[in-house]
Amino acid sequence: MSRLTVAVAGGSGYIGGELVRLLLQHPAVELTQVTSESNRGKFLHQVHPNLRRQTRLKFVRMDELQDCDILFLALPHGMTQSRLEALQALSERIIDLSSDFRLRDPLLYKTWYGHDHVCPERLSSFVYGIPELHRDALAFATHVSGAGCLATATLLGLYPLARAGLLAPEAPIVVEAKVGSSASGNKPSLASHHPERHGAVRSFKPTGHRHTAEVIQELSGNTSLSVHFSATAIEMVRGVLTTSHVFLDPPLRENDIRSLYREAYKDEPFMRLVKEKQGAYRYPEPKILSGSNFCDVGFESDPHSGRVVVLCALDNLVKGGAGNGVQAMNCMLGLDETTGLTFPGLHPV
Ligand SMILES: NC(=O)c1ccc[n+]([C@@H]2O[C@H](COP(=O)([O-])OP(=O)(O)OC[C@H]3O[C@@H](n4cnc5c(N)ncnc54)[C@H](OP(=O)(O)O)[C@@H]3O)[C@@H](O)[C@H]2O)c1
Repeated sequence: MSRLTVAVAGGSGYIGGELVRLLLQHPAVELTQVTSESNRGKFLHQVHPNLRRQTRLKFVRMDELQDCDILFLALPHGMTQSRLEALQALSERIIDLSSDFRLRDPLLYKTWYGHDHVCPERLSSFVYGIPELHRDALAFATHVSGAGCLATATLLGLYPLARAGLLAPEAPIVVEAKVGSSASGNKPSLASHHPERHGAVRSFKPTGHRHTAEVIQELSGNTSLSVHFSATAIEMVRGVLTTSHVFLDPPLRENDIRSLYREAYKDEPFMRLVKEKQGAYRYPEPKILSGSNFCDVGFESDPHSGRVVVLCALDNLVKGGAGNGVQAMNCMLGLDETTGLTFPGLHPV
């Protein structure tokens, strides 16, 4: 069977680089084009040195893109919505990893992004691309939106509790997300300059982070949940750890919570429950997930206060971005979801 052709727009960025790395090893697709406006004509490995001798492809500009079977978009916010028509002419299937099409409600989009969406009527035509939440819809989707990396960790941590109806609208859900520097992309700024960024534990969005809206959208049923989200930049290149504080209604015992998570994720190839009594890695930790599509979830319940602390870790560039996008592509194509995504991560790292 001939392989499907895939192109990556925004392939010189961090998410684009990870897409290229994963797609080059994927047995069902052939990577045909990768774009970068500022690196046109350069070999991919001149920007992504880990790809040396993996491909002879050179970067092209967006206006040189040709028709393909699947088009991945790893462009800055705003670019997909402003050129959707032209992009659709290139490929029937689009997987957009930006935040342009994550929210279904145009009003919610305006509230959180501060401006009207360019094509609000198209928001609902994109499937929110976390396979663990929307596998069935992805199987029939032509347009898929990736999720935010912090939102993905928050959602995968809390989804089993929400699904069981244990998160009450009046009970606050307080989430603290810690994230590495690659989450802000490869364009340097003063905040990312080494003397400023090195050693940082920097609160950059104590309130108002846009991923809050995705979490509310995806976790809420008929009534909106009360999600309070803060984000802190930490001394890592890759990695997200979310610590979510919740009060279950009705309260559950530790063993029942454990059974609930086991049941929810027993058939999920990338979800692992991490809750050990001993050892250095008793709870989820992003360090050992670098480069892998696994997502580790754990929890601790405080019998005195009734608080349940849910921890979730992933690599923002893989399960929080490119890897999740490839997993969504596998769903769309009816492939085994793990195809091309079996790298288990490194230890020590
Ligand atoms: N980093 C993460 O952890 C993460 C996780 C999930 C989702 N995302 C989302 O994924 C997208 C890419 O993120 P990133 O971190 O990879 O960003 P990045 O490193 O800054 O890469 C952006 C890419 O877009 C290209 N680009 C920039 N301006 C362009 C223009 N005017 N026309 C065409 N191409 C342009 C850049 O290359 P040239 O400038 O050479 O064209 C580069 O290839 C963003 O929307 C981000 O929100 C990021």
